[in-house]
Amino acid sequence: MEKFVIRGGKPLMGEVTISGAKNAAVALLPATILAADKCVLENVPDIHDVAVSLQTLAALGAQVRLLDKHTYEIDTTCLTSTQVPDDLSRQMRASYYFLGALLGRFGSAQVAMPGGCNLGPRPIDQHLKAFSALGAADSVEYGMIKVEGKQLKGAHVFFDTVSVGATMNAMLAAVLADGLTVLENVAKEPHVVDLANFLNMMGADVRGAGTDVIKIRGVEKMHGCCYSVIPDQIEAGSFMVAAAMTAGNVLIKNVTPKHLEPITAKLELAGATVEEFDDAVRVYRTGDLMPLKIKTMPHPGFPTDMQPLMGVLLSVAHGTSIITEGIWENRFRYVDELTRMGANIQVDGQVAVIEGVPELLPAPLRASDLRAGAALVVAALAAQGTSEITGIGYIERGYENLVEKLQGLGADIHREETAAPAAEQAM
Ligand code: EPZ
Repeated sequence: MEKFVIRGGKPLMGEVTISGAKNAAVALLPATILAADKCVLENVPDIHDVAVSLQTLAALGAQVRLLDKHTYEIDTTCLTSTQVPDDLSRQMRASYYFLGALLGRFGSAQVAMPGGCNLGPRPIDQHLKAFSALGAADSVEYGMIKVEGKQLKGAHVFFDTVSVGATMNAMLAAVLADGLTVLENVAKEPHVVDLANFLNMMGADVRGAGTDVIKIRGVEKMHGCCYSVIPDQIEAGSFMVAAAMTAGNVLIKNVTPKHLEPITAKLELAGATVEEFDDAVRVYRTGDLMPLKIKTMPHPGFPTDMQPLMGVLLSVAHGTSIITEGIWENRFRYVDELTRMGANIQVDGQVAVIEGVPELLPAPLRASDLRAGAALVVAALAAQGTSEITGIGYIERGYENLVEKLQGLGADIHREETAAPAAEQAM
């Protein structure tokens, strides 16, 4: 097992280049199944969840070729199975996108109930609602989700709750269905739009992504294409918060500033400065951090994935902040770790009341999920002294080369092997 060792207290200074978006890549990779052809995907992040998606494609019979560190050629001409291996699908939540893609092309799919970060119950009822509306039958037995529907027909789906995954899965299942599909009360995140753009490059007819209504006219056949994944707005936001938290000055490159608007707005209210360029933002802070009220909402609201990062920033603001988590039931697990660093945060259900303290103190920390882990890294970068963070596997699911990127900004951070637990040492 490895841990991060961070000697904090230094402002981050310099430039960092953001990788492709995890939550786009894990949908675009399964989407290649919809064409019996070759696709080339560029700007693919080198992270664990992408590796699992690629292994899954190969397990289904696709030919996967690495053209360069971030570019893959995926040939899905001759797929041999519509059943995702259990050991792969349990490693990440995004495995459910293989349901929509396999159902869309073959009329059949089987995926184990997906794993992923523990943020509370993670139902898939809205995914199944869309598949059922398109004419597929679904069953869940022994932890396996099976969907069958040989000839899907366009349908009108009004989602009961705004769901990124259900929106994207419905798109995947509908692009080859007969007729018109109308999806309402949909998610509008940048990665939803990215998937629609990719599908249209493959010959689909998807309109309205990024608005409240998506209309999909089924096509007979789709073809391969070459496409570049959008930059990761949550990775970018994480570095923006790190720059503000350490009172540094960082140029964050390969971003789409429009995708960062909800984050930029809150950081400026908190006292940071954000300069926008075509494909970069510069973030710095000279004055005190000010308290905020934040409620996480579906895009274009403040993104839930940035909630732990903002919790860390506001833990040292001058005053009382309130964060309301509007999406997940269990997304304040990082608070216990921050409390060990001297933070003063009271959590009651979906609401955290944060009394700013003068500074955070170093401590041994444990990551509990992807974004909570990133938040603890930012906290340790600000704390004067040495902190250690275990559970870094969570972090490396979604952040490519985080240690190297932070070292490039002057951070004193490195990986170390953790001492084996006493039981193992005794053996
Ligand atoms: C995606 O998860 C992201 N993951 C999450 O990012 C992100 O937090 C979330 O969207 C919200 O933006 C990926 O894209 C791989 P949802 P997803 O379906 O699709 C409820 C990260 O850190 N719901 O939009 O699983 C659900 O319980 C990860 O990168 C249903 O009730 O999220 C939640 O309360 C963490 N029924 C809300 O909707 C359903 O069928 C939003 O979930 C589906 C969801």
